[in-house]
Amino acid sequence: MLINRKIQTLDEFTIQQMRDFPNATGELSGLLRDIGLAAKRVHVEVNKAGLVDILGDYGTTNVQGEEVKKLDIFANNQFMGVLRHGISCAGIGSEEMDDIVVFDDAVSNQSKYVCLFDPLDGSANIDVNVSIGTIFSVFRRVSELGKPATKADFLQQGIKQVAAGYIIYGSSTMMVYATRRGVNGFTLDQSIGEFTLSHPDIKCPETGRIYSVNHGNYFQYEEKVQKYINTCQLKTKDNGGPYTQRYIGSMVADVHRNLIKGGIFMYPGTTDKPKGKLRLLYECNPFAFIVEIAGGKATNGNIRILEVEATEIHQRTPMFIGSKLMMEEFENTI
Ligand code: AHG
Repeated sequence: MLINRKIQTLDEFTIQQMRDFPNATGELSGLLRDIGLAAKRVHVEVNKAGLVDILGDYGTTNVQGEEVKKLDIFANNQFMGVLRHGISCAGIGSEEMDDIVVFDDAVSNQSKYVCLFDPLDGSANIDVNVSIGTIFSVFRRVSELGKPATKADFLQQGIKQVAAGYIIYGSSTMMVYATRRGVNGFTLDQSIGEFTLSHPDIKCPETGRIYSVNHGNYFQYEEKVQKYINTCQLKTKDNGGPYTQRYIGSMVADVHRNLIKGGIFMYPGTTDKPKGKLRLLYECNPFAFIVEIAGGKATNGNIRILEVEATEIHQRTPMFIGSKLMMEEFENTI
């Protein structure tokens, strides 16, 4: 049976978008294509997990003292590999690497962009077959073209991102990315091995009924955050509720669901970790960019995530992100 629907691949889509800008060099399209390629390789490995020896710990901890899983390393190597050998990226920063890696060669030094990654977010979920993801952020370099990228290229405010996205390895594998022109989602069609446009022009519903937070930490949250959580629990059908609590423990999966269905996701600071757990540059900034472009909001409890000054690659920040009206209610409560 013929399906009467035009299928548009990720490559076709990015090239079509580029054609609207006569001066575009195609570097961003190339970068997104490279990321898509690495994501397909990670998808294959994630889907084999359990059959091959890729589950479990790598035996080391990362710079933040967290256990590193074998799949984390595999994913990091894939993204690093395609971008190092591509022509669109001058260097990368990653959760899995202590410092930035600058691709100091004649081609890379001419590249306009640098990327930051969390190659495999939600690693605690890998071994138990729960959705995990990759998150990425793209900045235009501020350093001089023709020379190696510098740390200043990576330590930019989130507002300066030119693109950001994530890949969710879930019941299907999807890549969602945002530029200032909008947010679009592509589902991996395994029959042709291509990401194809499945969720054009994603908009985050203005409101929703889902709140996502680690309730286990409740007594470690600031009083004002506890107050908002209490508000969520007290919602009834007469004041926009009842709300439902959903928390997977993979931010990619939690925020993806809330982006599609409407909701609020929170990772507040705790008494032990006042800045929370999430990393500004490769977890919070990319999601804040995507959700804002889709019509939602993201803050650290005081200011927009996208306006937080970046001082170090692995900097942490509390994050509250989601549907516009729910975020406004949060801001009015705290
Ligand atoms: P990691 O990749 O180290 O497993 O961290 C996952 C992140 C994020 O994706 C998730 O929302 C959060 O950590 C869950 O942390 P808690 O278990 O503390 O709630």
